[in-house]
Amino acid sequence: MKDEKLVLKSRKAQHVKLVIDENVGVENASNGFEYFEVVPRSIPNIDFDEISTEVEFLGRKFSAPILVAGMTGGYPEAEKINIGIARVCAKLNIPMGIGSQRAMIINSDTTRTFNVKNEVKDLFLIGNLGLVQFCMDFDRKEYEMAVDSVQADAMAIHVNAFQELCQPEGDLNFKNAWEELEKICKYSKVPVIVKEVGSGMGFEEVVKMEKIGCAAVDIGGSGGTSWAKLELMRHDGEDPPFALDDPVLTWGVPTAFASYEANVKATLPIISTGGMYNGVMAAKALMMGSTLVGVARPVIQAFMKDGEDGVEKYLRHYTETIKRVMFLIGVGSIDKMRTQRSRLIPRLRAREWLLHRKII
Ligand SMILES: Cc1cc2nc3c(=O)[nH]c(=O)nc-3n(C[C@H](O)[C@H](O)[C@H](O)COP(=O)(O)O)c2cc1C
Repeated sequence: MKDEKLVLKSRKAQHVKLVIDENVGVENASNGFEYFEVVPRSIPNIDFDEISTEVEFLGRKFSAPILVAGMTGGYPEAEKINIGIARVCAKLNIPMGIGSQRAMIINSDTTRTFNVKNEVKDLFLIGNLGLVQFCMDFDRKEYEMAVDSVQADAMAIHVNAFQELCQPEGDLNFKNAWEELEKICKYSKVPVIVKEVGSGMGFEEVVKMEKIGCAAVDIGGSGGTSWAKLELMRHDGEDPPFALDDPVLTWGVPTAFASYEANVKATLPIISTGGMYNGVMAAKALMMGSTLVGVARPVIQAFMKDGEDGVEKYLRHYTETIKRVMFLIGVGSIDKMRTQRSRLIPRLRAREWLLHRKII
């Protein structure tokens, strides 16, 4: 157990260091939004100052359709990062996720690095555990411990088969994962959000997640931070499963395609995460029907560079960009944005994809 504690602690610290210092995107792997063109409205017919970016998600009203996706916790420096980001999210009234709480279950001393609501009361906080853990050794007891010890308002259950496959100490037994997920949805006292971390998913799985009781799905598409690449970078001299330049690293459903599919076929709220690095991409995801867009790497980079001010500046600019696009298509609310799919034209690869999948 002691070794496991140490491995987890240093892994989470290494993740943040790699995200800050290295190129953790994959060359030639885009998240697909450049394949969607917007038909603007030449006469917007609205006043820019009356445009609202408010959105309702899981019963709460937020000021912008942005989620700071779960990242860290479990080692001493993570406390400062999580609390700093939490303060900004509470100030801007947007939801925030924390990193996997497995470290906290294994070593309760690290609980305070996740428990940001101790300091930041009004935050909507999304807890985080990996589904594979429930196929192995976690059960209801660990789940409830994770929810209660951080007063989570919702719980993200991450699915990350490709990451585990590339991770030096990865867990590969996903047997009975669907049954475990269904059990979690049944006993959970808070809404359950399933979350991919960069390989995306097809609509078939999203529809099944909705059917078994998930409250929302973060399709976590490819084209943003590559967790496969990041884990391959952590192999120290041993024989990694793939080379860092292996074309397999473009694996996955690009965020734009996964968002489009999920929104056409399912009715539960969709979160679009994965390389959502500017407000124009975010606006397109909302036009597809997504309720929120998730952003991870740029937020932690802004925090490490300029602290809370940097994060606030980044998120305010991001929100303003969404608003500017709303103005150019003459839409005054996020609810209305989510009905604008017909003004989004899929071309080339996106059109081919969506035709083949019988989505358009
Ligand atoms: C430093 C860092 C740590 C992360 N740790 C977790 C984690 O513990 N659990 C999880 O579900 N996702 C984790 N993620 C994945 C993000 O939530 C997100 O899905 C992914 O990074 C894609 O978003 P991006 O392209 O905006 O970075 C982490 C991301 C970053 C940047």
